[in-house]
Formats: sequence, structure tokens, C-alpha cells
Amino acid sequence: MKKQLFLLILLANGISFSQAQRKTFAQRADSVLKLMTLDEKVGQLNQYSGDWAHTGPITKDGDKQTQLRNGQLGSMLNVMGVQHTREIQEMAMQSRLKIPLLFGQDVIHGFRTTFPIPLGQAASWDITAIELAERIAGTEAAASGIHWTFSPMVDIARDARWGRVMEGSGEDTYLGSLIAAARVRGFQGKGIGNTDAVMACVKHYAAYGAAVGGRDYNSVDMSLNTLWQYYLPPFKAAVDAGVGSVMNSFNTLNGIPATANIYLVKDILKKQWKFDGIVVSDWGSVGGIIRHGYAATYKEAAMDAILAGCDMDMESRAYKDHLAKLVKEGKVPLKLVDESVKRILIKKFELGLFDDPYKFSNEAREEAQKNVPAHMAAARDLSRKSIVLLKNENHLLPLSAQIKTVAMIGPFAKAVKDNLGFWSMEWPDDSLTIVTQWDGIKNALGRNTEMLYAKGCNINDTDTSGFAEAMEVAAKADVVIMSVGEARDMSGEAKSRSNLHLPGMQEALIKAVHSTGKKIVLMINAGRPLVFDKAAAQADAILYTWWLGSQAGNAIGDVLTGAYNPSGKLPISFPRTEGQSPIYYNHLNTGHAAASDTINFYVTGYIDLRNSPAYPFGYGLSYTGFSYGDIKLNKTTINSSGKLVADISVTNTGNADGEETVQLYIRDLAASVSRPVKELKKFQKIFFKKGETKTVSFTLTVEDLKFYNDQLKYVAEPGDFKLFIGTNSDNVKETDFKLIK
Ligand code: NOJ
Repeated sequence: MKKQLFLLILLANGISFSQAQRKTFAQRADSVLKLMTLDEKVGQLNQYSGDWAHTGPITKDGDKQTQLRNGQLGSMLNVMGVQHTREIQEMAMQSRLKIPLLFGQDVIHGFRTTFPIPLGQAASWDITAIELAERIAGTEAAASGIHWTFSPMVDIARDARWGRVMEGSGEDTYLGSLIAAARVRGFQGKGIGNTDAVMACVKHYAAYGAAVGGRDYNSVDMSLNTLWQYYLPPFKAAVDAGVGSVMNSFNTLNGIPATANIYLVKDILKKQWKFDGIVVSDWGSVGGIIRHGYAATYKEAAMDAILAGCDMDMESRAYKDHLAKLVKEGKVPLKLVDESVKRILIKKFELGLFDDPYKFSNEAREEAQKNVPAHMAAARDLSRKSIVLLKNENHLLPLSAQIKTVAMIGPFAKAVKDNLGFWSMEWPDDSLTIVTQWDGIKNALGRNTEMLYAKGCNINDTDTSGFAEAMEVAAKADVVIMSVGEARDMSGEAKSRSNLHLPGMQEALIKAVHSTGKKIVLMINAGRPLVFDKAAAQADAILYTWWLGSQAGNAIGDVLTGAYNPSGKLPISFPRTEGQSPIYYNHLNTGHAAASDTINFYVTGYIDLRNSPAYPFGYGLSYTGFSYGDIKLNKTTINSSGKLVADISVTNTGNADGEETVQLYIRDLAASVSRPVKELKKFQKIFFKKGETKTVSFTLTVEDLKFYNDQLKYVAEPGDFKLFIGTNSDNVKETDFKLIK
């Protein structure tokens, strides 16, 4: 308890700089700008990756060293650790104006302490716990010389084939926006410039998650209405939370590369939203403008990107090689370059780097952030909250204390690094703290339970030679726990899959173990929704465990034994087959909506499959049960200044204490643009003692009823609405109300 209190104190209320401080930073930036040559200005807009392994020798690339000393670099990524960042910063300090470098890094789900992958975290629906995870990640990263994380990734993702679904918060704009803001607050803490905070970077701007066919880096074609309604709000939420930077995305949006997209960056982000931080390209995305067929040369690409508002060029070297010339030729106004440089200098001032370029290079602080018990406790907490119970026949879980023999089977049972997930940091093995599933479960079950083990098969090959042993071991056990899934590099960047089934021989292994007649608890470790219908039919209980990170084993142990009652809810719909992708709960009704979830002719659907997902958005079971009463409204009409209060009584009907995430959705029945069949508007995660009933109360105002019309105006239109409250997007109580003028 004390520990939790301590950790909560770590959460600051998104403190930012005062007007006066901002003015001073801007003035100081101007005074530096005045001293700079054009080449030095261009240098500030140039970012390279370190080309050494994290543990390896300092830069082997003489060219980069010279550029550092000449002031031709503003920032580096992938340089980690106090010692390395110090050495590189020392090179920058040899430059004429001694402008400090910014060190950036992808801190996506933890730094030293690895938290569940972001999609898993989103399944907790616990905004405070997510903010705390980023507070910790920020603290650990800042202690290792890092100033800037390329996170949060807030791309709405409706297609599980896209490997990067693992990095975001799933398919919902409202949940995604709350999480986006929480992550920014977590990383930036009491404000950048504090030695426990890093500057956040919201990405990938914009619409990257809608890559056609779920193929990473693919083009995006999307109406502006969809863009504004679903894809932009999490970015806006991050900007409102004070995010220090934004990263362009790789895709084209309606034919124009995001990195060269004046509408997205200059007009919306910088003008309308008044974003005053840094816009950084994605890796090589300035050069990508050529490959998209939008520019013919690097010079043109550099011009397109800077004119669109991209301040920093990550690894394309297009600014470095061409920007000065473009200015001299009058093709790019110097004023524009100055503006970008100033944005970067201001952040360097805010971080305090001009006062002390080595502010984040403190050995003692770095050492103190290794294996911090309170951080591990927070990771265990968020990990168990991220686990989603999908099935629990005959209350097989939690495992009874009477069980004498448990067999643990599957390639994840004793896996180490595969628990970590795609964007986890690479550390030398001896400094890694990972609680394996085997160890965590063994500890949780205690000495009186015998544990047997068989790997059964590898994650992704055709070898079945371990099946016989697995079946033998299963036959000796009272219960079998099978842990299967995707290897850590099967979801993530450039990891799109057309086949979402369990890889390798894992489905066959489950079938073989099932043939022994033993009860099976199936755990699925993955970075995305997988298709596992056959395995699901053979398992008695299913836990979706994503990739849980450093504390995977402990968190799973807590859930299997009931020390923690699972409370996770899916932040993304799980398709029945790949062919249903993209699939999302907040779709439009269409003019041919099916009346029921059966195969029918002349309705929108397939001739060979129902429309509903395998598991809907918001779904997740508990060891206890919750029953919902009817919705009571304080009135059935509201106007633009009114408040609609919706009360519902929820009862814990089972035998355990537990948490329930009560979800409120609305539907606007007739509007000037077609509105979705359901849209999440509110939720509350509430703890209930067994047998306890609580009235859960939600308040809606006209703001919650607004949407973008065909003129892209954010409006609420009078008319009839439905209001739903329930345990998931598919299982709700409903009532009606009216918005009047
Ligand atoms: C490319 C990825 O798309 C982006 O998310 C990441 O931040 C950069 N590489 C830097 O590693």
C-alpha cells in the first residue's frame, strides 16, 4: 500500500512552463539563432541514429563524428546510457556554438522495467496505472541519458493483420485519446527539464493505422470525415496534454505523403492546434517522399517536407544535403528554417541542456534506476490488469488449491525474452529481470503442487517430436496449462501477417494434448488479436496475456491462483478469421444491415461467415459475475446546456471480489452524416465486493454527442439517440433520449 502511495505521488498533474518561462526560452533561442550560420541552422534539423550496438564501441562512423564537431547534427537516436551519451555530447561541445544534442529513443513499453505491450496495457482500461508505467519508463530512461522518447503511438488500429497494432491502444478513439494524454503526462512528469522526465513524441501523424490490407507502410485512403472523427482525436489529446513533439507517419494520406502534407502538419497541427513543439520525420520518411512518387529528387523531398512543417529530418540526410542550397536559391524561405530551428532550440532550453549539456548523464542516477522494486511492483500490477479472461468453463479458474499436479506445456512455458515484446530494450542478459511464466506459476502454486513440464514444440517451425512427451506429461496431471503464441518479433514494425493463426505446430499441439482428455487452461501470448477458434473450443479456460514484460510470470501466477481476479477488457475486436479484417465495433449501420448475426442474403455480410467478431470490443470475463439493472435517466430530453444523468445498478453476483469496467455507448439515430451503431463515450472501472450492488452514474452533455459533419464542423444535431450501458460493446442495456434545441 505504502509503495502504491509512493508511486502515485510520482504522478504529477502535467505541469508545464509558465508564460514568463516560455518567453525567456524563446528569447534565449532567438539569441542563439542570431549567432548561427545557415549551415549550423540546417545542422540542428538533422538527426542520425547511433551506429553502434548499445553495449558496443562508440561510433565507428568518422563522418558522423566530424559532423558532430562541426555542429551539423541537432539530435541522435539509439545512443543510450550515461557513458555513451556523455561521450557523444562531448563531441557536440567541441562545435563552434556548443549547442547540445537531443538524445531520442523508442521507449515504447518500459525502459529497464518492461511493461506489457501498449495494446495489453490498454486492455487494463486503467488510465492511472498506464500513466504510472510511463512515469516509471520516463524516469528510468532519463537516468540513462535519454531526453526524448518516440512514444506514445496513438494510431487507431482496426486491422489485426497490421503488426503495429501492438504499439497502440486499439480501435477506439475515446479510450485511445484518454490513454494518449495519460502517456504524455507520464513521460513528461512535472515537466521536461526535470531529471526524471523525457519529452514525449506522439506518432505516427497521421492515419498510419489504416494501411490498406494491414500491410505496414502501405498507403492510406480515407475520407476527411473519418480522419477527423476517428484518427485525429488521440493526437489532439496528446497536444492538449502538452506533448513536446510529433512524428510524421510513413504513409501517404489520399495521395500525399504525411511528411509532405501541408494540410496535416502546417494547417491542422501547427496552425489550428497551435502545436509549438518539434515535428520530426519518421526514419527516412523525407526520402520516402521520393519513393511515394511525390518528389523526383532528395532536394525536392527536402523542400516538400520543410514547407509542410517537418522540423527535423530523421536519417534521410535530405535537409543536410539540400536545405542550405534551397534557401540560397530562394525556394525555401530562411524564416521557415529559422522557425524550425527555434522550435528545437526551445526544447533544448526547456530540457536545461544549454545550462548543463550533461544534465542527464549522471552515473549514480543511472545505477539507482536498475531493478527498482517499486517499478517491478507497478509492472506486476499493470501486467495482471492487462490479462483478459476470454473463457472459463465450469469455473476452472482460479485453480483450486486442491490440485496436486499441474502440467505446463508449450513454447512459452519457460520462455524468457519472448515475454518482453517487440519494442523492449536490448540489455545484456545478465542484467535482465524477467520472471518466466514457469517460475511465476511455480511460486504462486506453492510447494504442495507438483509441476511437470514439456515444451511440446517451438513457436514457429514444423517439428512435432515433442508432442509425445507433452501428451505423457499431460496424462499425469490434474490440469494442463498451455502457453502458446507469437514470438516477440512476430508483431511490431514491418510484422504484418496475412495468417493470424497460432504459428508453427502450436494448434496441433493443443489438439494432441486435448486428446488426453485433460482440462486445459490456454494462455495466448501475442502482440495482436490472433485467430484460435479450434484451440478455443478445446480449451476450458483462456487467458489472453499479450506480451506482459518483466513481470509476466508473477502476474500470470496471481491470476491463475485468484490472488488477482482478472479485469482486463479487449481494446480491439478479435476477428473470427483473417477475412473479417478490418473489423471494429463502431461501424456504420449501412442500408442493408442484418437484423441478426446469422448468414443472410441481401444484407451486408459474407455468405460463409457471421458478421460478429470472435470476441467483441470491451469483452473480458471475471472470476465473479456482474448483473446489470435497467438504465435510469434523470430525463429523456436534453438541450445544449443540459446534463443527462444515466444511472445503472450493477451487482457482483459471484463468489469473489472483483473489478468491472462499466461501459457507456451512444448511437445517434439520424444525422446529417451516418453515425456508428455504437460509440464508446464513458466508462468506469469499479471494484465490487462479492454480493455488492452499486449504482454507477454517468453524466453526458451535448459535447458527448458531437461529431464532424460533412463540412468538418464539430456539431451536435437535435434528434433521437440511443444510450447503452453494459459489460462489453455487444452486451448492453439500452434506452432512448432526445437532444432538443
Ligand atoms: C521507425 C518507426 O516507424 C518509428 O515508430 C520509430 O520511432 C523510428 N523508426 C525510430 O526508431
